[in-house]
Amino acid sequence: MENVKVFSIIIAVFSVLSVESVGLKDLKTCNFGAVYNFGDSNSDTGGGSAAFWPAGKPCGETFFGRPVGRGCDGRLIIDFIAEHLGLPHLSPYLDSIGTSFRYGANFAIGGSTIRPQNESMSLNGVSPFSLDIQIVQFDQFKDRTGHFYNRSYPRHHRNLPRPEDFSKALYIFDIGQNDIAAGLRKKNDSAFHASVPDIVDQLAKAVQNLYEHGARTFWVHNTGPIGCLPVSLHYHDIKPEELDEQGCLKAQNAYSMEFNRQLKARVIKLREELPHAALTYVDIYAAKYELIGNAKKQGFVEAANICCGFHEDEIQVYCGHKQNINGTEIYAGSCENPSDFISWDGVHYTEAANRWVAHRIINGSFSDPPLPIKHACHIP
Ligand SMILES: *[C@@H]1O[C@H](CO)[C@@H](O)[C@H](O)[C@H]1NC(C)=O
Ligand SMILES: *[C@@H]1O[C@H](CO)[C@@H](O)[C@H](O)[C@H]1NC(C)=O
Ligand SMILES: *[C@@H]1O[C@H](CO)[C@@H](O)[C@H](O)[C@H]1NC(C)=O
Ligand SMILES: *[C@@H]1O[C@H](CO)[C@@H](O)[C@H](O)[C@H]1NC(C)=O
Ligand SMILES: *[C@@H]1O[C@H](CO)[C@@H](O)[C@H](O)[C@H]1NC(C)=O
Repeated sequence: MENVKVFSIIIAVFSVLSVESVGLKDLKTCNFGAVYNFGDSNSDTGGGSAAFWPAGKPCGETFFGRPVGRGCDGRLIIDFIAEHLGLPHLSPYLDSIGTSFRYGANFAIGGSTIRPQNESMSLNGVSPFSLDIQIVQFDQFKDRTGHFYNRSYPRHHRNLPRPEDFSKALYIFDIGQNDIAAGLRKKNDSAFHASVPDIVDQLAKAVQNLYEHGARTFWVHNTGPIGCLPVSLHYHDIKPEELDEQGCLKAQNAYSMEFNRQLKARVIKLREELPHAALTYVDIYAAKYELIGNAKKQGFVEAANICCGFHEDEIQVYCGHKQNINGTEIYAGSCENPSDFISWDGVHYTEAANRWVAHRIINGSFSDPPLPIKHACHIP
């Protein structure tokens, strides 16, 4: 299971967006009504736990008080977005217990990639729920909930989406980090670069498919700086010249940046192809990189520190796991104060870091176009 998390990492471009004053007061707040999310562990609110092994303690300890399927001590960026929109946290599509899909559904699963990987969960922790499958699941979800909505008594509608909300919903993508992790694992620079147009194209196909099903508002996160993840730093015998000014692996971040550069160009092209769609590109990479570069100033310990897990002397015991080392059992528990840390488990961010990033992206300051999320339905 730890592999799922390891490979479920996130990336971006340093495009400094000119936050022009788009006549905000003239724009009406969008009434999204529902959110549909597609992604990996960065936005998995319990899908992976429903499909495979549940996230164990101490995950969830900060906010939920128990493990709730998130690879985090508390809430994820997607949770803060839902709260900001006045909606409940998203139920995972695959979760059969206690779910409500009235305000949307979450198709994200830890370990998922955009492209199917020809690998497996048992082999190397790669999720079979690649983006194409998540989209097929969405199509089926829309079709079947519509069918039940029509047939059932109104009192049974409570947990079903209102059919008219699909065209008004916000469709979020946060996926690509594991395609990059796979690239780092299996491809040299030139082979990876050659594969990026296809990766980005498959994401565009997912958007097009949803558009054909009536979706109109898309909010696309790029991928974070994978070379800044503490786990990458603990795995390597690193030479100083491999690191950038924030202590991140330059070569790994270059993969993220290349993906993001092409993703942004593809999103801009999609605006021409889908004239009735409002497409926002969100520079998660820049937000996370800013946080990492200003960790101390923002009240965090250094970004390379991990709250939960044991990573010393070439020994890697992942958050919540136990391992016998020379006759001594090591339990990889969490730190005393997770909100001081940026990294929860070496791969995933803490709730405190997720809140920091969410607050910055929600008002549009890392977006193209630079509209707050509540105005993302408008085509500038
Ligand atoms: C997986 O295998 C199929 C068939 O050989 C191939 O077309 C596809 O490109 C492969 N996917 C990846 C990500 O390598
Ligand atoms: C449900 O009913 C509405 C209104 O009669 C109809 O337009 C729609 O196609 C139906 N949906 C399904 C899935 O049967
Ligand atoms: C990179 O990988 C490709 C495909 O496996 C191979 O053809 C090429 O020779 C490699 N390039 C370098 C510089 O190793
Ligand atoms: C475990 O034992 C080996 C062999 O004696 C030693 O080299 C290694 O440093 C020990 N590891 C730890 C964590 O104590
Ligand atoms: C967005 O919010 C962040 C964090 O509160 C703030 O620093 C930034 O100035 C805001 N940007 C805009 C355009 O409102």
